[in-house]
Amino acid sequence: MIHIYNKGNNDNTLLLLHGTGGNENDLLDIGKLIDSNANVLSVRGNILENGMPRFFKRLKEGVFDLDDLEFRTKELNEFVEKMSKEYGFKRDKVIAIGYSNGANIAGSLLFQIANSLAGAILLRPMVPRRDFKLPNLDGSKVFISAGLYDSICPKDESIELDNLLRKAKAEVHLNWVDANHRLTYNELEVARDWYNNNFKKES
Ligand code: MLT
Repeated sequence: MIHIYNKGNNDNTLLLLHGTGGNENDLLDIGKLIDSNANVLSVRGNILENGMPRFFKRLKEGVFDLDDLEFRTKELNEFVEKMSKEYGFKRDKVIAIGYSNGANIAGSLLFQIANSLAGAILLRPMVPRRDFKLPNLDGSKVFISAGLYDSICPKDESIELDNLLRKAKAEVHLNWVDANHRLTYNELEVARDWYNNNFKKES
């Protein structure tokens, strides 16, 4: 997969996953804000929708192609495994930071593959799918940032996602933002504080 890897000087690796129409450059500044000492693996989605990169196909806005989602989730997990060997980062210390479509594939990694992520910062995520029994997510830490007026990722869906992850024993922090689908600087600072409390940084 097309990607950027920047080596850091602690054990954590931030897996950066952009939104629809974005690319591997989009979340680099957010990664720096969250943990400027972590390794960064920033990946471009393998799907093109009218020229816009995404991480999996959709049938229409908000309706996902579940077969493709399953395939792409596995593909991304295998890519992270391979890169961890190639670049020498710790596979069990990967924390995803995803926005919108990127948050949805990060959510899908949590739903589909046990131990694929140590944690995740999900910015404007949806429920990736409803047809899977989630693995035991005991020990996984998840920050959800949801917009109160987000028409793409409606409020009820954020609550549903929070419930599903909690039922699977993840530790979830649901952060409500007075915003729509666009991110605010303030919520990224809240995400950074949550990260600092949950993922000790050893520089
Ligand atoms: C998706 O397709 O993943 C969601 O609708 C969010 C987005 O618009 O990318």
